[in-house]
Amino acid sequence: MKITKAVIPAAGLGTRFLPATKTIPKEMLPIVDKPTILYNVEEIIAADIGQVILIAGRDKTSIEDFFDTSYELEDVLEKAGKRDLLNPIRDLRKRIQVISIRQQEALGLGHAVLCAEPVVGKDPFAVLLGDEIMVTVPGHASAIAQLCALYEKHTTSVVAVMEVPPSDVTKYGIVKVQAKSKNLWQVESVVEKPTVEQAPSRLALPGRYIFDSEIFSCLKEIKPGRLGEIQLSDGMTLLAQRKGMLAATVIAERFDAGDKLGFLKANVELALRHPEIGPAFGRYLTDRFGGTP
Ligand code: UTP
Repeated sequence: MKITKAVIPAAGLGTRFLPATKTIPKEMLPIVDKPTILYNVEEIIAADIGQVILIAGRDKTSIEDFFDTSYELEDVLEKAGKRDLLNPIRDLRKRIQVISIRQQEALGLGHAVLCAEPVVGKDPFAVLLGDEIMVTVPGHASAIAQLCALYEKHTTSVVAVMEVPPSDVTKYGIVKVQAKSKNLWQVESVVEKPTVEQAPSRLALPGRYIFDSEIFSCLKEIKPGRLGEIQLSDGMTLLAQRKGMLAATVIAERFDAGDKLGFLKANVELALRHPEIGPAFGRYLTDRFGGTP
């Protein structure tokens, strides 16, 4: 069955980016000249998925506006004959339908995913974390397209994993797995941000998932945490036990753009590849720091 819907939870508070995120959602912070969320949407479009379900929080209307028509700007660009700037803006709207749902309280990632149920219904669907960027490696499909292909082959939920050093397991959801074949595992459970000693493996979840719609029942059944938050990892453990779940590595270049250092690395790397400013930026780095960037 083909995946036709992708959910982007973007209703977190973004406290790691304060004070910028007091009024600007972190998903709208630009990496060179595109908001972070546009990299996710391009990854989705490359997987031939036509519908994005955006889970937005309060004060996140700028994300909705970004995907909407901007009459005044488009009129000015049209009259000035600036087709090179206008066409990408218009093409984006033709290629993807964005449906926005409000998560009224930031009650955790599991709760954010649950908010998508009225639109997703009974179909399997993709989830991409709005602050994780997966840049497509030339010659390969986009990260989420690689997971979609695995879903189509195995017809079971499948999530991306990446190996992290032992000291980093405390930052991620970590999977307990049984090896199935090269780069493919059967998931037994997910532990959210374990200590180094408790970590069942070094395979971390970088925020790309394909879920069977049974995940919604699982998320409704799990007990909320102390602050009322519903953890996606708990729902995933239940889903893995009930219906099975695979974990797979994907070939992509990943940046954690929700973290200041990851955000800066993404800006530097993607600026160096930018057709307009890449060469000049490279020269600037060489002049400033020496060596070859
Ligand atoms: P994070 O915990 O990384 O995001 O959630 P955050 O809370 O926005 O950021 P910090 O840690 O305070 O800086 C991972 C993803 O889940 C979304 C976030 O927007 C982010 O993309 N999320 C999280 C929601 O949509 N709703 C929530 O209640 C929590």
